[in-house]
Amino acid sequence: MAHRFLAVLIGNEGDNRSMHFTVEAQKMAMSHLVEGSIAIDATVGNGFDTVFLAQHVGESGLVYGVDIQSEAIESAKRKLQKSEMLHRTQLAVMSHANLDDLIHPTDFGQISVAMFNLGYLPFGDKSIVTTASATHQALAHVFNLLRLGGLLSILAYPGHAGGAEESAMISKWIEDHEAFFEVKRFQDSQNTNSPILWSMSKCRSDS
Ligand SMILES: C[S@@+](CC[C@H](N)C(=O)[O-])C[C@H]1O[C@@H](n2cnc3c(N)ncnc32)[C@H](O)[C@@H]1O
Repeated sequence: MAHRFLAVLIGNEGDNRSMHFTVEAQKMAMSHLVEGSIAIDATVGNGFDTVFLAQHVGESGLVYGVDIQSEAIESAKRKLQKSEMLHRTQLAVMSHANLDDLIHPTDFGQISVAMFNLGYLPFGDKSIVTTASATHQALAHVFNLLRLGGLLSILAYPGHAGGAEESAMISKWIEDHEAFFEVKRFQDSQNTNSPILWSMSKCRSDS
């Protein structure tokens, strides 16, 4: 069976834990990116992952990025402008539930990495969070957008309101798609409310 769970503990420094997971998610994404790759940041937030992706797709690559908060997109654009990489990106204020609307049809099935860092914007409005429903729709799009060998990275936070429901939905979605992915799952085994990182490599397409 293609499906494989690996539960390990990455770091145990309390508040720094989610930072470790964002770094781990980037490390795993890096090995799936080459010059010219196409990537998606499904939750642009402060733009750290978008900048990381733009660096690794290179001059001939492209990063699609969405966020429902215009402040997030503007902040990411400023970072990208500063590092002269804005032209490698296509960013939009919209929900990832409608991700398909942003992606050029010729890029369907060509995405090398799709990153989701769920929850709320750090230092932003904590009432604006990702939801199980929108995330579910986004995952359905990403499933078709990813190329064979492409990586789907999801960092979820069960600890905040709505976070447990969203994490449970993701677990179920992964179970339903287990034939198509090789899955690695990371969480602090001492704390079921701690962040969960799934790293999923697409190993089979349904067509
Ligand atoms: C944890 S932050 C992302 C951090 C970001 N990846 C970074 O590197 O800074 C989560 C983001 O998801 C965004 N968000 C919430 N619901 C969304 C949705 N339906 N579609 C896209 N983004 C959403 C929030 O506005 C927030 O900015």
